[in-house]
Amino acid sequence: NNHLVIMAGGVGSRFWPMSTKECPKQFIDVLGVGRSLLQLTFDRFKEICSPANVWVVTNKSYVDIVKQQLPEIPEGNILCEPCRRNTAPCIAYVSWRIKSVDPCANIVVSPSDHIVTNVKEFERVIKGSLDFTANSDAILTLGMKPTRPETGYGYIQADMSLPSSANNEILRVNSFREKPCLQIAREYIKDSSFHWNAGIFVWNVNTIVKAFREFCPSISDIFESIDVYGTDKEQDEIDRKFPMCDNISVDYAIMEKAKDIFVYPADFGWSDLGTWGSLLQLSPKDADGNSIIGSDVSLFDTHNCIVHTLGDNKIVVQGLDGYIVAEGKGKILICKLSEEQRIKEFSGE
Ligand code: GDD
Ligand code: MG
Repeated sequence: NNHLVIMAGGVGSRFWPMSTKECPKQFIDVLGVGRSLLQLTFDRFKEICSPANVWVVTNKSYVDIVKQQLPEIPEGNILCEPCRRNTAPCIAYVSWRIKSVDPCANIVVSPSDHIVTNVKEFERVIKGSLDFTANSDAILTLGMKPTRPETGYGYIQADMSLPSSANNEILRVNSFREKPCLQIAREYIKDSSFHWNAGIFVWNVNTIVKAFREFCPSISDIFESIDVYGTDKEQDEIDRKFPMCDNISVDYAIMEKAKDIFVYPADFGWSDLGTWGSLLQLSPKDADGNSIIGSDVSLFDTHNCIVHTLGDNKIVVQGLDGYIVAEGKGKILICKLSEEQRIKEFSGE
């Protein structure tokens, strides 16, 4: 059976102060369409997976928000982490949990902070991916065409000459490099065999469990040692053992190390709403390249800025070029767009 895992426990720290620890970006209607990024993620998989097989993994402080935003999925499918350990422990936990109910599960893992504009094409690619991993021990990632030397993404180098026999759009991966420095990212994007990792992974449950055993035995031992999945003792065991997991993302823990990786290069209007700059790129802009989200903003001699207000205060900006001006509850950020990867450091969140 097909299962969908939505990872929704991040803090969206580079989107501060709109995104905060109390209410991270995935729970916010960032686009102003009446659905949060989490809800939009769920909607996007409607044709692929029934709500009974949708799992959301999140931090314990967000469980109530998830229940409220996704009443369609069974409450028992909302897995609750007692602390933040990044995506590798998150994926390990849900994989062992799913294995306990469906030992042959075929799984798509999706972040909850993305935008997809061509949902039909997205569905076609995801269905093709699930067909592929149903019958192979492959770790499959979706590859996006890079458009800039982004340092916040993973880069996948495909072997362009080796399409897989089962699906000729799917290629073997030579190497995977998570979040390279700017200099290396610049080199990568000159070469058309490099793709951005969309952060969407497809595999069957046995493949990923095996990969954890091989590359992260300290994490797999923890989830292997739990034998009360699906019972009312599960949460106590998780609360006790989950904090022992290494704090590491799946990209470093598995993707940079595994051998049998494949990539499905795809184009379905993908965007990671990771930063203010990515939102500026997507948003309608005025003649000076500014994007205003919210009301009561006056700009003078200002170019290429993103201004976000909550609407309670009048904001006047003069003479800025390439800046973020963003208001959150009781917080204001004014930051050069080119330094936005450092917002986490600036905000201290
Ligand atoms: N449950 C849970 N627990 N979810 C988490 C945790 C955690 O500790 N940490 C992050 N997440 C969720 C986030 O909410 C997000 O939906 C997803 O996992 C990915 O985490 P990010 O923190 O947004 O990762 P990233 O954007 O820096 O990098 C990843 O995505 C890029 C594309 O968007 C990597 O996979 C990159 O290689 C990739 O290019
Ligand atoms: Mg992200």
